Amino acid sequence: MSSTVTVVSHPLVQHKLTLMRRKETPSSEFRQLLREISLLLAYEVTRDLPLTRRPIETPLAEMDAPAIAGKKICIVSILRAGNGILDGILDLIPSARVGHIGLYRDPETLQPVEYYFKVPQDIADRPVVVVDPMLATGHSAIAAVSRLKDRGAQSIRFVCLLAAPEGVQALGEAHPDVPIFTAAIDSHLNDHGYIVPGLGDAGDRIYGTK
Ligand code: URA
Repeated sequence: MSSTVTVVSHPLVQHKLTLMRRKETPSSEFRQLLREISLLLAYEVTRDLPLTRRPIETPLAEMDAPAIAGKKICIVSILRAGNGILDGILDLIPSARVGHIGLYRDPETLQPVEYYFKVPQDIADRPVVVVDPMLATGHSAIAAVSRLKDRGAQSIRFVCLLAAPEGVQALGEAHPDVPIFTAAIDSHLNDHGYIVPGLGDAGDRIYGTK
C-alpha cells in the first residue's frame, strides 16, 4: 500500500512555483511566493475537513450554519524551512495550533537528527498537517510523522512544495496512511540529496543564508 498523492496543478500555484525555481529570485520574493502558494496548498489539504451545523442568527433570521467540526487543526513545521509554509497556512487558518520539530540532515548519512520537539499536548485529538517545502529522501518527513504517531496523532497529512519520486515512495511505504500534497513531483535526487531540477536549498533561499 502507498499514500495518496495530490499534485496541486492550479495555474496560480504552478506559475508561482516557476518564479520560485528561478535562481535569480531574491529571498524576499521567494518568501512571499512560498507564503502565497502555501495558502493555496492549505485550501486543498483542508478540503475534506468534516463540517457540522451550528445555530446562528443573521440580521434577518436564525439558521443552522456550517462550521468545521472538532478541534482546531494543528500545523507541524519541520524546522527551519517548514516555517515558510507555516506562515502561508496561518494566513488562511489563523486559529490553527502550531507544533515545531527540529530536524537537520546529517550531510554524510542524509539521516535526520532531532534537536527540538514541541507540539500541543492534545495533538492526538486534532487533525495534523506536517509541512516541509522539500520532500527529498523522505527521511525527515518519516521521522517527524513517526514522532507524531508516538504522541498519539491519528489523522496526519503531509504538505510540501516539491517532491522527489524517491521521497514520495519512501514516505508512502513508511506511512501509507498519510496523504501527500505537493505542487510538483520533480525528476530525481542528486548525489547530495537535492531535488533536480528543484529550487536549491529551500531554507537558504527563504532566509538568504547563502
Ligand atoms: N532540501 C532542500 O532544501 N532542497 C532540496 O533539493 C532537497 C532537500
